[in-house]
Amino acid sequence: MKGVVLHSPGGLDRLELVDMADPGEPGVGEIRVRIHASSLNFHDYGVVSGRMPAPDGRIPMSDGAGVVEAVGEGVTEFSTGDSVVSCFFPGWQDGVPRVGDFSGVPGDGIDGYAREVVVCPATWFTKAPKGYSHAEAATLTTAGLTAWRALAVDGPVQAGNTVLVLGTGGVSIFALQLAKLMGATVIATSSSDAKLERVRALGADYTINYRKDENWGKSVLEWTGGRGVDHVVEVGGPGTLAQSIKATRIGGHIALIGVLTGVAGEVPTALMMLKQIRLQGVVVGSRRQQMDFIRAIEVNDLRPVIDSRFALAEIAAAFRHEEAGAHFGKICLEY
Ligand SMILES: NC(=O)c1ccc[n+]([C@@H]2O[C@H](COP(=O)([O-])OP(=O)(O)OC[C@H]3O[C@@H](n4cnc5c(N)ncnc54)[C@H](OP(=O)(O)O)[C@@H]3O)[C@@H](O)[C@H]2O)c1
Repeated sequence: MKGVVLHSPGGLDRLELVDMADPGEPGVGEIRVRIHASSLNFHDYGVVSGRMPAPDGRIPMSDGAGVVEAVGEGVTEFSTGDSVVSCFFPGWQDGVPRVGDFSGVPGDGIDGYAREVVVCPATWFTKAPKGYSHAEAATLTTAGLTAWRALAVDGPVQAGNTVLVLGTGGVSIFALQLAKLMGATVIATSSSDAKLERVRALGADYTINYRKDENWGKSVLEWTGGRGVDHVVEVGGPGTLAQSIKATRIGGHIALIGVLTGVAGEVPTALMMLKQIRLQGVVVGSRRQQMDFIRAIEVNDLRPVIDSRFALAEIAAAFRHEEAGAHFGKICLEY
């Protein structure tokens, strides 16, 4: 079988498609999955670009979707032929957050899904939504579940709320779609007017070009009549948080998710305190949350926005496309 390895010290030109040993038959409690798709996340880019160092030979990609080829003894949840999708945290099945690092995350601390076949515990996967392609399913593991957790679990969003989403990457487009599904008003930002037109077509009620309007937090506040938004899907980090705080209503919620502008910076703590804002750190979600999310997808026939598709052998080109920032929604690998 084929798979991709990342040679130390990382970098897109250090990704190589190689022949790998077949992992064989599943043991007790395991499944054998033929992987057909993955999707790119900023986190995966961190690993493959070498910014988040990984051991020599690491198989990248946290997201994996495919078909169960065989089930081991004792596995009752899956049958041969089931379409399945991987979990970001195999070690976090249910309950309150228990994992605060990436040591057990496929494609980072352990080998990921840039390969044709895996054998692993059945609990590392869930069923994929009925009727989904493998590429669609692969968008759920990281980006989809993060948006779901921010809005449906931690928010939680109520019909009539206002939600602010930043940029048009994987997490933010999912958040926009979910917020609309939940009956919220959505404000979206982007660096591109053309992308803003596309988010309006997806249902965004108000849009701002954050390059042209650097004080976009104030603009959001004004658009909401001075009240502010109920929830922010904060994917920017230190470079956007102050504006997000400005945009949030008294008693509102900010889901602190991203590091697009860096990993540390100044926070206007007094304003946050006065506004009594709830700042909730988010790192993806549990397997249970993924199953709840998938049920919501099936009931509402939510479809992810896929920007582009690449073959496994084109993985470096796929990441160059992400690096260029011209994408809208998810970039997928299909194999
Ligand atoms: N904590 C978690 O659980 C978790 C999970 C998933 C992702 N994340 C993080 O969330 C962030 C987004 O991830 P992703 O996979 O969705 O990335 P992505 O698909 O690569 O999206 C990147 C997009 O972000 C937008 N962007 C870049 N700089 C921005 C800024 N200063 N202000 C507003 N938007 C900006 C751009 O949109 P425009 O082109 O429209 O400007 C860009 O296309 C990353 O930092 C990632 O590490 C965290």
